[in-house]
Order: sequence, then structure tokens, then C-alpha cells
Amino acid sequence: MKIIRNIKEMSEVAKKHRQRRKSIGLVPTMGALHEGHLSLVRQARRENVFVVVSIFVNPAQFGAKEDLKSYPEPFKNDLVSCRKEGVDIIFHPEAKQIYPEGYKTYVEVKNLSDLLCGKPRPGHFIGVATIVTKFFNIVQPDTAYFGQKDAQQAVIIKKMVKDLNIPVEIKVMPIVRQKDGLAMSSRNTYLSAQGKKDALVLSQSLNLAKDLIQKGLRDSHKIIHSMNNLIKNKKAAKIEYIAIVDSKNLKPIEIIKNHCLIALAVKIGKARLIDNYLVT
Ligand code: PAF
Repeated sequence: MKIIRNIKEMSEVAKKHRQRRKSIGLVPTMGALHEGHLSLVRQARRENVFVVVSIFVNPAQFGAKEDLKSYPEPFKNDLVSCRKEGVDIIFHPEAKQIYPEGYKTYVEVKNLSDLLCGKPRPGHFIGVATIVTKFFNIVQPDTAYFGQKDAQQAVIIKKMVKDLNIPVEIKVMPIVRQKDGLAMSSRNTYLSAQGKKDALVLSQSLNLAKDLIQKGLRDSHKIIHSMNNLIKNKKAAKIEYIAIVDSKNLKPIEIIKNHCLIALAVKIGKARLIDNYLVT
């Protein structure tokens, strides 16, 4: 496994593999790898000759008051995990190479970036779309892998790739959960012992929604209301949003039907957690 820090070198290595017609799989990450990331890496490994994992804590997707400075960076552990999974290249560029002085170009997917998580985090998805576009240009992968936990991110990236005719296939892999139901997230490391228990309320509220839908309830407002009541029972939980939206355009829907997304963001202490359930 090779670690590449330089953009030009990354492009050249990827180009050589493309010329030998070797399929390239890219897993973009910000590091602090957990089983969720590793499920993407394993899928990339199964489907490609050459696997690149990018590890880059992207400053452009953090707001001024967010956790850029404290974001976990267990780089050595990440290398051990990637080596174990048979990754070929870790692309770990420096921020000043990605955003040199005078950098001016950003990618915005309109009418999707400002919804749900985009409301309390203005600019977040512009930062995500920009870095992902840059990585697609540098590596030019055949396939790139993202997690369903970041459902809005996946919708935005798919739309961006379609709108900008970027020749890459996007694969979105299922949410990986702990045994107790908590969705895997790098930000779970911010949770105290009590916070870990309180955080279960996110998946519990989604399970409640599932049960209500299975029992025949279709009214989004009633489902959101029940989820809201369950979460509000936990003193430590601060709801940012609970939404039921169309899974493609992320617009709110009144009556539950197939292909809608139930998504929520809740703060537990200083950890901002998201989770979702796709109604199929
Ligand atoms: O999902 C993430 O970890 C990040 O948003 C991504 C896609 C690696 C871009 O920085």
C-alpha cells in the first residue's frame, strides 16, 4: 500500500492504471475510519483492480463554529485498517495543495444543498461537492463509493455527476450499525458513556416510524410528531430536524409512499448525529 500526498503523483499513478485498462475504485473519506467506511472499501476491493482511499479532512465543508479543529485524525490506525483490506493507494493531500492561495472555484448543486442538513450548515454541501469533484478529476475513478448514512450527500453527488457529465459510477452502500442500532459515525467518538446510550434514540425513532408505516399510517406529520415525542423524552437530545422527503429531490412529502426518505439530525452533547431510513 502506497501513501501519496502529491496531486500530480496521484493523477499519474491513476493514469497508468487506466492505460492498462485496470478499473479504479475510489472511496473518499475524511479518515477516522469505522466499519461503515470499511464496508465501502471492501465493496471497492471486490469490484476493482485498483483501490484508492482518500483521507482528507476537508476544511471547505466545515462552518466557522464547527469541529474542524477537533475532528478525529487517527491516521496510523486508518493505515492499519486500509492495509488489512488490501487498499492500493491512500491519497492524503495537504490542504494547501487542494486549496492553494487564491483558490476561487466551488461547485454548488442548487435546490438540494440548502435543504435538511444544508439549512443549519450553510456552505457544507458546496464544500463536499467541490472536494468530491476535485478528487474525481484527480483520480478519474470508474466507480466511487459513498455511505447511505449521509443520504443527502449521496443524492447531491449523484445529481452533480449527472449534471456535470462526470464519467464515474456512484455506488451507495447501506448504513452500518452497531449491534445496539447506533449508526457508525466518526463523530460517535465525541459521545460520553451516557451520550452513547442517549444516541440510540435516533435509530429507535426510525424504528418507531417503520412500525407505524407497517401498521398502515401514511401521514408524515403524524409520524414526525411521534418521532419528535420519543426523542424529546431524552433530555440530552436536541433535535435539529426530522423530515420525510422524496428520496431524489429531498422535498417534503405529506403522504408516505415508496422511495421516500425519513431523515433526522439530533445533537447529543457536542456530537451532531444524523441517521435515516429509506422507505422502499
Ligand atoms: O462523507 C465524507 O466523509 C465527506 O463528506 C467526503 C465525501 C469524504 C468529502 O469530504
